[in-house]
Amino acid sequence: MNVDHVIVTTSPAETHDLGVRLGRRLGPGQVIALHGDLGAGKTALAQGIAAGLGVSEPITSPTFTLINQYRTAAGIPLAHVDCYRLGESRAEAQREAATIGVEELLADEELIVLIEWGELIADLLPTDYLDIVLVPVEDAPEHRRIVLTAHGGQSQQLLQALVEHTKLSSV
Ligand SMILES: Nc1ncnc2c1ncn2[C@@H]1O[C@H](COP(=O)(O)OP(=O)(O)OP(=O)(O)O)[C@@H](O)[C@H]1O
Ligand SMILES: [Mg+2]
Repeated sequence: MNVDHVIVTTSPAETHDLGVRLGRRLGPGQVIALHGDLGAGKTALAQGIAAGLGVSEPITSPTFTLINQYRTAAGIPLAHVDCYRLGESRAEAQREAATIGVEELLADEELIVLIEWGELIADLLPTDYLDIVLVPVEDAPEHRRIVLTAHGGQSQQLLQALVEHTKLSSV
């Protein structure tokens, strides 16, 4: 059974910091799916993850480019994918994602992949990935409820390591 871990951050800096702590623990083959409405903080978290991985270039939203690629300090390639603009329907989004090579990125054991709006190409997601949902908190504009769910062994180990060093609650 998958256990959700929840953290509430109270500022963009705290979300960034959670990303840093996660990024420091990432290894090749890890896929992370980020979900949340516009302005939820997906890019803020992705920037923290990249910082934790020691990516020196600034990370920007791949909204128009669809895929941005970086190299981490340890030399691991990092792909940042945004599925938001793919296709009008789920079927079309999956076809387009396959056309631009997202399937290969997700299957590449050498890569770390951050994927935004991955729910649009749910059938292409691997069996092992860490799912992260960011949700605004009512009446608290600077708060975000961040729910982390591990699917598969590699992601479970990753989340366990993060939980042991962070104040995360299980639900
Ligand atoms: N706790 C928080 N964590 C993250 N961002 C926060 C928080 N509180 C406020 N914010 C603000 O919310 C916005 C988050 O923007 P960000 O670009 O990261 O969202 P996004 O999910 O990537 O949106 P989009 O889908 O439009 O790309 C920023 O302006 C940030 O300052
Ligand atoms: Mg963004």
